[in-house]
Amino acid sequence: MLVSAKEMLTKAHAGHYAVGQFNINNLEWTKAILLTAQEQKSPVILGVSEGAGKYMCGYKTVANMVKAMIDELGITVPVALHLDHGSYEGAKKCIEAGFSSIMFDGSHYSIEENIAKTKELVAECDSLGLSLEAEVGSIGGEEDGVVGAGEVADPNECKMIADLGVTMLAAGIGNIHGKYPENWAGLSFDTLAKIQELTGDMPLVLHGGTGIPADMIKKAISLGVSKINVNTECQLAFAAATREYIEAGKDQSGKGFDPRKLLAPGFEAIKATVKEKMELFGSIGKA
Ligand code: 13P
Repeated sequence: MLVSAKEMLTKAHAGHYAVGQFNINNLEWTKAILLTAQEQKSPVILGVSEGAGKYMCGYKTVANMVKAMIDELGITVPVALHLDHGSYEGAKKCIEAGFSSIMFDGSHYSIEENIAKTKELVAECDSLGLSLEAEVGSIGGEEDGVVGAGEVADPNECKMIADLGVTMLAAGIGNIHGKYPENWAGLSFDTLAKIQELTGDMPLVLHGGTGIPADMIKKAISLGVSKINVNTECQLAFAAATREYIEAGKDQSGKGFDPRKLLAPGFEAIKATVKEKMELFGSIGKA
């Protein structure tokens, strides 16, 4: 069932668990995540970065694929199709294409411009029943060629954006996309606590879910994080399983070169990773 992320995140916030956002790259990725969510009776958010949207031949292709797959696979758990780190233009295109949830990442603008653009999108998303995620304080690391320095958000700016009526708020708290460096300082829980104190019951979003230790994830959830984004970890699991298949020479035995066989171990690896994250986030059985 394709829905906005509002209700699932309100429930997650009240129930002290988090819903996973898993980014998709192709049909196999989407199918693996949807089937796992259904098997685990978990709500789920499918994330689509602008780069991945382009790779999959545009947002309309993505929206139609996801809707058709939900129907053909008989997926009854709540699924949100969410633009990840959208530009203002990207947000408009995804609204038109039929996404159920939008992230507008205005964190690289001045706070005034971030507020102005977010406000406009709040009105548009509200009128269509879509959920909207905003961001304050850019997330570090590299995503789609954009390298963010990784800031710690100003809690007062978070409050200003939250007060615009967004559905959920992403705030930089020392988290980064991709693998964490050896000397990573960890998450700033003081900042997270302050942000939640000022924003009341606003569901908070933790980006860069790959590689954050389980105890930090649990603590972040206890402080108001209700949505956790995971991308790199599924990619690493897919690549490792595919490598193992090829290194074992399985593609050269019988019909092992058939993409339906060649991609099967990677597909299963994504399913296992998503299940593991859902267990950690506490969303299993919450659909
Ligand atoms: P990772 O790739 O580090 O898991 O981050 C995903 C993310 O935050 C997408 O917005």
